[in-house]
Amino acid sequence: MKYTKLGKADLTVSRICLGCMGFGDAANGQHSWTVDEAQTREIIRRALELGVNFFDTAIAYQSGTSERYVGRALRDFARREDVVVTTKFLPRTQEEIDVGVTGRQHIENYLNQSLRNLGMDYVDLYIYHMWDYQTPVEEIMEGLNDMVKAGKARYIGISNCFAWQLAKANFYAREHGLAEFVSVQGHYNLIFREEEREMGPFCQDQNIAMTPYSALAGGRLSKRPGETSKRLAEDSYARLKYDATAEQDGEIIRRVAELADKRGVSMTEIALAWLLTKVTSPVVGATKLHHIEGAARAVELELTQDEMDYLEELYVPHALVGVMAQNTAASAKKPHVWSVGDQKIR
Ligand SMILES: NC(=O)c1ccc[n+]([C@@H]2O[C@H](COP(=O)([O-])OP(=O)(O)OC[C@H]3O[C@@H](n4cnc5c(N)ncnc54)[C@H](OP(=O)(O)O)[C@@H]3O)[C@@H](O)[C@H]2O)c1
Repeated sequence: MKYTKLGKADLTVSRICLGCMGFGDAANGQHSWTVDEAQTREIIRRALELGVNFFDTAIAYQSGTSERYVGRALRDFARREDVVVTTKFLPRTQEEIDVGVTGRQHIENYLNQSLRNLGMDYVDLYIYHMWDYQTPVEEIMEGLNDMVKAGKARYIGISNCFAWQLAKANFYAREHGLAEFVSVQGHYNLIFREEEREMGPFCQDQNIAMTPYSALAGGRLSKRPGETSKRLAEDSYARLKYDATAEQDGEIIRRVAELADKRGVSMTEIALAWLLTKVTSPVVGATKLHHIEGAARAVELELTQDEMDYLEELYVPHALVGVMAQNTAASAKKPHVWSVGDQKIR
């Protein structure tokens, strides 16, 4: 494994972050394809053996059961100071707004619940999961700063935002001496490259770490034409992100397969080796041992400039999809797929 600094933060992270959205009670949440606690523990133990020290979960993943499984496994297999743990909070719900829960209280309540789920007294990176149009950014930044001052979050990060939103938030924080976002978790992979337009150059200029999610397009960049899996069949949310452009993306995926054959490696290694040249640490999902093993091997693979050009050549701009397609003031009051399920947040 190779390691790097997470932007300006004093955190040393593995070049692969293990995405933990696929861990949790499959009967209790957004996804039907998640793996149980025993399988989660095996994958986390293998990730640690391979040198992965960076773990990404969220309160929204399977009603907090991802956080619980991850927290217990890390307590059993690692020392707290040797791992970098991130989790995320959702926007305020209409119910919270109606009963007068402020943005600052909301953040504290959510982080307290996440810490209970994880069985930890702090997280290394606390992530603003998606832009909350109903809560002023000032309140968000004050609330996050409260958590850093209280020692419950070492650093803060953001996910699913436009570059202008990140700039606006950090500008406010800098003006007021508050904690700034040190990382951004956006949707970025070989078949979805919209982050290259504004976010990439902005992050480079500001030394903000990019830790993109769906680094393998939910498994599409790991599969040959016709290959399928439980997740590909059941993950309807991911299908909404990729189905509309499947034909044009298929040409790029074919090139990934072609280069994999030429280099004698897996498609996963090609797709991640490409992304690793662009970002700090991709967040890669794993529901099988060989998934994390493939991701770890990618860190060792170097592509030539010709291979990079060949992989990039066919991309054409895509419309925004998934959470980013809902990043508008008009969408703010519409329900989105994420919720905290049956957790009693307080
Ligand atoms: N901030 C956000 O809004 C957000 C959104 C989505 C995800 N995330 C984070 O990002 C993580 C990753 O996202 P993701 O799961 O959507 O995307 P991903 O990493 O693009 O896809 C993971 C899938 O790729 C396949 N795969 C992984 N390694 C493989 C290997 N070595 N060989 C063959 N197939 C392999 C598996 O699919 P099969 O099971 O089909 O084989 C696996 O479920 C999540 O766990 C979560 O932590 C964050």
